[in-house]
Amino acid sequence: MKVLVTGGMGYIGSHTCVQMLESGIEPIIIDNLCNANQAVLARIEALTGQAPTFYQGDIRDEALLDRIFEENEIQSVIHFAGLKAVGESVAKPIEYYDNNVNGTLVLARAMKTAGVKSIIFSSSATVYGDPEVVPITETSPVGNTTNPYGTSKFMVERCLSDVFTSDNEWSITLLRYFNPVGAHPSGTMGEDPKGIPNNLMPFIAQVAVGRRDKLAVFGNDYPTPDGTGVRDYIHVMDLADGHIAALKAVGLKSGLHIYNLGTGKGSSVLEMVDAFATACGKPIPYELQPRRPGDIAECWASTAKAEADLNWKATRTLQDMTADSWHWQSNNPNGYDSE
Ligand code: NAD
Ligand code: UD1
Repeated sequence: MKVLVTGGMGYIGSHTCVQMLESGIEPIIIDNLCNANQAVLARIEALTGQAPTFYQGDIRDEALLDRIFEENEIQSVIHFAGLKAVGESVAKPIEYYDNNVNGTLVLARAMKTAGVKSIIFSSSATVYGDPEVVPITETSPVGNTTNPYGTSKFMVERCLSDVFTSDNEWSITLLRYFNPVGAHPSGTMGEDPKGIPNNLMPFIAQVAVGRRDKLAVFGNDYPTPDGTGVRDYIHVMDLADGHIAALKAVGLKSGLHIYNLGTGKGSSVLEMVDAFATACGKPIPYELQPRRPGDIAECWASTAKAEADLNWKATRTLQDMTADSWHWQSNNPNGYDSE
C-alpha cells in the first residue's frame, strides 16, 4: 500500500516512515524542508534498505499535489506537515494559519480531486486546553486553545470533521498526540530542533551534551506531587507504531475516528531530569524559574479507546525514551549537521 506522508522528513514523520517501510507500507514523502534536514532520507534508507520516494515541495502547491497523486497509486495520506512552535505562532499567526489550516485545505482538495478519501491527521493534546479532569478522554471538551498553533490544530479538526459530514465515504482519523520524545534506538535518527529548543526533552538533551549550560525549570508551585508540570511523554517509536495501527484498523474504514496517543502515565519535569541524568550518567544542571505563560499543571491521556479499537498500546518506558534520546544526541551533538 502506498501512503502519502506530508512532513515525512520531520521528527515524527521520519520515524513513522521507518516503521512503515519495516511493515511493508510504502511512504511517498512530500516535505518543503522548512524544518527538516535532507540527510534524513539517507538515514531512513540506511535503516530500512529502501529509499522512499521524496518530493521536495509545499503542501500548498496544489499542482504538485495533483501530480503526486497522478504519479503514484496512493490509498491514504498521513498528514504531519505543519508549523509547531507555540511561541512563534503567537508572533506569526498569519503564517501558522496559512501553513496549518490553508495547507490542509489545499491537501484535502487535491485528495478529493484524486478520489483519495483517507487521511490521518497529526493533532495534539493542546486541543483540550487546560483539562478539567485527567486522564483526558477523547470526549473531553476541546477548543479552549490559548495560542494560534493550538487553535490551528482545533480548526483543522473541525474542517476535516465537516468534510466527513459532507461525504460519509471519507475516513478521517484525528490522532491527538501527547508529548512525543525519544529517538530511533539505532541513534541515527531523532529530534533536531532549529535554534533554542522550546520543548523539555530536547533542551535537557542539549544541556547533557554541553550545547547549553543549564535547564530552566518553569515553575515548581503547581498543584502536582513535586510542584513541577506533569505530562504524558510518549516514545516517538510508539507514536510511529500508533500510526500504522490506526492505518490498519480504521485508516481505510469510512468514519470520523478520534484517538489519543499517549501512555496514560504522567511524569514531572524533575522526574524527566532525573531519568535523563541516569541515562547519560551525569547530573543535569537546572535552575527554578517562574511558570511559563500558558502552561498547564498536568495532562495525561486515557489510552483505553486506542487500546480497544486500534489494538495498540505504548510499550516503551521512560528509561527507553531517555536512553534513546541520549544515544541520538551523543552520537549527533549537532543533530543532522553533525556529519
Ligand atoms: P517537524 O517540524 O519535525 O515536522 C514537520 C515537517 O513538515 C517538517 O519536516 C517540515 O519541513 C514540514 N513542513 C512544514 N510545513 C510544510 C509545508 N507547508 N509543506 C511541506 N512540508 C512542510 O514536527 P514534528 O514534531 O514531526 O510534528 C509533526 C506533526 O505533529 C505536526 O503537525 C505537529 O504539529 C504535530 N504534533 C507534534 C507534536 C510534538 O511535540 N512534536 C505534538 C503534537 C502534535
Ligand atoms: C508544548 C506546547 C503544546 C505542544 C507540545 C508538543 C506550550 C505552552 N505548549 O506542550 O502546545 O502541543 O509542546 O509540541 O508550549 N519545561 C521546562 N523547561 C523547558 C521546557 C519545558 O520546565 O525549557 C516544562 C514545561 O513547563 C512543561 C514540561 O516541561 O511543564 C513540558 O514542556 P514542553 O516539552 O514544552 O511540552 P508542553 O508544554 O506539554
